[in-house]
Amino acid sequence: MKFDRSVKIAPSILSADFANFGAEIQAVEAQGADWIHVDVMDGHFVPNITFGPATCAAIRPHIKTVMDVHLMIAPVDPYIQAFADAGADVITAHVEAGPHIHRTLQAIRATGAKAGLALNPGTPAEAAAPLLDLVDLICVMTVNPGFGGQKFIHSCVQKVTELREMIGDREVHIEIDGGVDPSTAPLVAAAGADVLVAGSAVFKGGSVENPAPYGENIRAIRASV
Ligand code: DX5
Ligand code: ZN
Repeated sequence: MKFDRSVKIAPSILSADFANFGAEIQAVEAQGADWIHVDVMDGHFVPNITFGPATCAAIRPHIKTVMDVHLMIAPVDPYIQAFADAGADVITAHVEAGPHIHRTLQAIRATGAKAGLALNPGTPAEAAAPLLDLVDLICVMTVNPGFGGQKFIHSCVQKVTELREMIGDREVHIEIDGGVDPSTAPLVAAAGADVLVAGSAVFKGGSVENPAPYGENIRAIRASV
């Protein structure tokens, strides 16, 4: 994974057909997805359950680009190796998920995966300050995690500006997750974000049988920034 700050669109398979992940991933990559965002939820850290490392391992061979695994689970540490073994390129943990985020980030990097740090909407940018040299990506949640299709929280844009300033010339991606569409993408891209996760805004209107809308939706987000 070579670092660059160009805008990357990362469709979230949370909005895909759960019975057809392999074909959905191939379709969305063929339609221009840069990364594939994989939302792991445990029904404890967030009020929803998706899937775990076995599903990640099963979908890995279908992903040609970057497998970006967003862990919305607590605790995180006992499962890091399993997600790394499943083939995750990026493993992101929440600062709110436990008392030892520093250790968690070290453990992620020790597997060889890139380490991501996610901040909920209620968590300030300063929470990332002591961790900047331990992370490869900061995920700014622009909805409260747990569900796709929620409304973008505009007060989070200022946090992106602050983080961009704090990061300086470190090779750290800023990822935006939640409510990204052609109306909100330009706000966060202008503030310094480079990875734009989008679930409902990418998958709406399309299917494996009719994937062209995926491409139109991706191009609409790209064109907006
Ligand atoms: C929310 C997830 C997101 C979600 C985004 O907890 O982390 O990745 O899929 O969905 P949209 O783009 O529909 O807000
Ligand atoms: Zn996510």
